[in-house]
Amino acid sequence: MKKRVFSGVQPSGDLHIGNYLGALKNWARIQYDYESIFCIVDLHAVTVFQEPAQLLAKIRETAALFIAAGIDPRHSTIIAQSSIPAHAELAWMLTCVTPFGWLGRMTQFKAKAAAQETVGDGIFQYPVLMAADILLYQAAVVPVGEDQSQHLELTRDVAQRFNSLYGETFVMPETSLPSVGARIMGLDDPDVKMSKSAKGANHAVNLLDPPDRIRKTIMRATTDSNPAVNFPALGPGVANLLNIYQAFSGASDEEMHARFEGMRYGDLKKQVAEMVVAQLEPLQRRYAEITSDPGYVAGILREGAERVSPIANSTVELVKRRMGLYVEP
Ligand code: TYM
Repeated sequence: MKKRVFSGVQPSGDLHIGNYLGALKNWARIQYDYESIFCIVDLHAVTVFQEPAQLLAKIRETAALFIAAGIDPRHSTIIAQSSIPAHAELAWMLTCVTPFGWLGRMTQFKAKAAAQETVGDGIFQYPVLMAADILLYQAAVVPVGEDQSQHLELTRDVAQRFNSLYGETFVMPETSLPSVGARIMGLDDPDVKMSKSAKGANHAVNLLDPPDRIRKTIMRATTDSNPAVNFPALGPGVANLLNIYQAFSGASDEEMHARFEGMRYGDLKKQVAEMVVAQLEPLQRRYAEITSDPGYVAGILREGAERVSPIANSTVELVKRRMGLYVEP
């Protein structure tokens, strides 16, 4: 039997090239080596307020973007988290074995809590729900960007703790990071990671941005006061642009040096912009095709839920038995 892969994206804003290079591109590449499940994690999105009509539209958009980015729905399963009640059910059971202190140490919790006036309990529980997503399917591999590494360590800690309290139950999931592109930084501020929730107009290149918008954002990217690329001493803005080029193109380190050493920043930006435009063009074309059939995505999500529900339900039943919760005799 093939090992299982699981990963997810929050439908909480526009997907950007960080999501693509850190996650979606890698998913498309490895999907056939595994039994693959990719999830739109809407229950995670509502840990901060989402405008309901917009959230629903974003769930559909995210599913269509998975397929446009190369996830093959004939092979891989695409699901909306809230359509499978077992995610929330298992999350509760795992909450009960997770020490409070572990969650308080999560850097994402600290950052999100600092940005909110009222800190919802959901923000605190967020990593437990994420552990439930992964452990529910006994996933062996979880392909993500670097910002999710700490959550995955917590997932393993929770699994281990459950296994030691109640007996071997969960497969220990491994983190899979892309070799290039695991952490794309903001184009307006290369000291912070590119994120869906950042506000600045020149912060991110979104996957559905038209070519002219992409060119503008990249041409305005923050660099530094040097005139040209100097590999031994790259500033963070220039390093980020080179990283984006390398992740999209698949160029080796040697090729990157040969092509860009000594190049003036204006020319570097032009080359990065044209690479990103060319790479996103087929994705955007596929997206337009997929969304021209209004029933298509709904059908994929329905089929996905039907396909994986038996796996999810059997894990919940196993966990209930392990814990001594009520299961019909
Ligand atoms: P989310 O929605 O923030 O991001 C989705 C994926 O994109 C990656 N990513 C990045 N990679 C490189 N550079 C960036 N600037 C960048 N920004 C985001 C993320 O690492 C992620 O892989 N908690 C998760 C969603 C989740 C999940 C899961 C993931 C819920 N349950 C189970 C894996 C397994 C999140 O908020 O991702």
